[in-house]
Amino acid sequence: TKIVSVVGARPNFMKIAPIIEQLKIKNKNLKAELKHVLVHTGQHYDEEMSKSFFEDLNLPKPDINLGVGSASHAVQTAKIMIEFEKVCLRERPDLIIVVGDVNSTIACALVASKLGIKIAHIEAGLRSFDRAMPEEINRVLTDAISDYLFTTCEDANENLRKEGIPEEKIYFVGNVMIDTLLRYKERAKKSKILEKLGLNKDLQVRSYALLTLHRPSNVDNRETFINILKALKNVSKKIPIIFPAHPRTQRQIKSFGLEKYFNFVNIESNSCVNIENSINLLDPLSYLDFLNLMANAKFVLTDSGGIQEETTILNIPCLTLRENTERPVTLKEGTNTIVGSNPEKIISKSMDILNGKKKIGRIPKLWDGKAAERIINILIEKL
Ligand code: UD1
Repeated sequence: TKIVSVVGARPNFMKIAPIIEQLKIKNKNLKAELKHVLVHTGQHYDEEMSKSFFEDLNLPKPDINLGVGSASHAVQTAKIMIEFEKVCLRERPDLIIVVGDVNSTIACALVASKLGIKIAHIEAGLRSFDRAMPEEINRVLTDAISDYLFTTCEDANENLRKEGIPEEKIYFVGNVMIDTLLRYKERAKKSKILEKLGLNKDLQVRSYALLTLHRPSNVDNRETFINILKALKNVSKKIPIIFPAHPRTQRQIKSFGLEKYFNFVNIESNSCVNIENSINLLDPLSYLDFLNLMANAKFVLTDSGGIQEETTILNIPCLTLRENTERPVTLKEGTNTIVGSNPEKIISKSMDILNGKKKIGRIPKLWDGKAAERIINILIEKL
């Protein structure tokens, strides 16, 4: 049996890591019956967006890198498809595994489906019901053509049923990203990031807020972006904000001329976080450094999908700077609150947390570190 698994963008790497690990374990028992080929589409290519994750997560070097890089959605998706078709024709896999909702996910799934290759989609069924979000299109389409749909929560199962996906294709297995978080939590404590940022001992725990922001809906429109920044600047008067910024966001800050909102921190040149009234912007961080920053934060402000789930497991309050979420389980059971891009709400919910108001979360069902094992057991049985 031959399996090709696909990664492309930053949020894919931590999802595929436990799958590769399980394949290794199973191969030991099955005497290497499962041949595995790891394909990196090259959607993300910067050192901090890609390579550092391979190092932190002990991922093997990709067997094949399609090297597609950045482009418009159509061009990027098309380039991935052209290159991935060649890979499929050469490798003739029995199954491809795709994760999450990025352009690499749909591009490779679409290629495989036309070639009659079975598709497993990990993290199926999540829906924001917001078609203006590029990821939502990727989710709906990938699920429609997948053969094995592995879900993280009950609401995802329900979404798939409503879209007419037959019950026998849906497998509720838990959350592979949480597998990785639980596995690396202890190791992340050894990260030196807090020292590198110049935070002395008494400032290292619960004395900063952590921010990420990169959605086109938040950073591609100048007015929306400025409104969010004004609110954050206000919050930073009460608690310093640390902001590892996605390359897209850094580019928008320059092109909109918004530098005045930030204190620019460069870890390499030992410049420090300013704790007075500052949004401290730095380059994107590696997995372990970011995990360490999340675990020690007072709270997290984000427009990411995965971070809503990670903060729930870490029991750190999360304010989501979006109007909706495809991960409602983090609202119902976890520590997440939707605040959108409304400045008053961003400020008032931040103040609530600073005044000690804390949502008590519990751990969603099957987010127990064993999702990848369940997935591989199912696939071995079916293939
Ligand atoms: C992609 C995913 C998004 C995910 C995000 C996480 C899609 C549609 N979106 O968005 O769901 O939350 O990754 O990071 O797939 N860039 C670099 N270096 C890189 C990668 C990107 O400088 O290594 C810059 C380029 O200017 C590029 C821009 O970021 O044009 C956007 O990259 P792209 O891969 O198109 O989408 P993301 O915004 O990263």
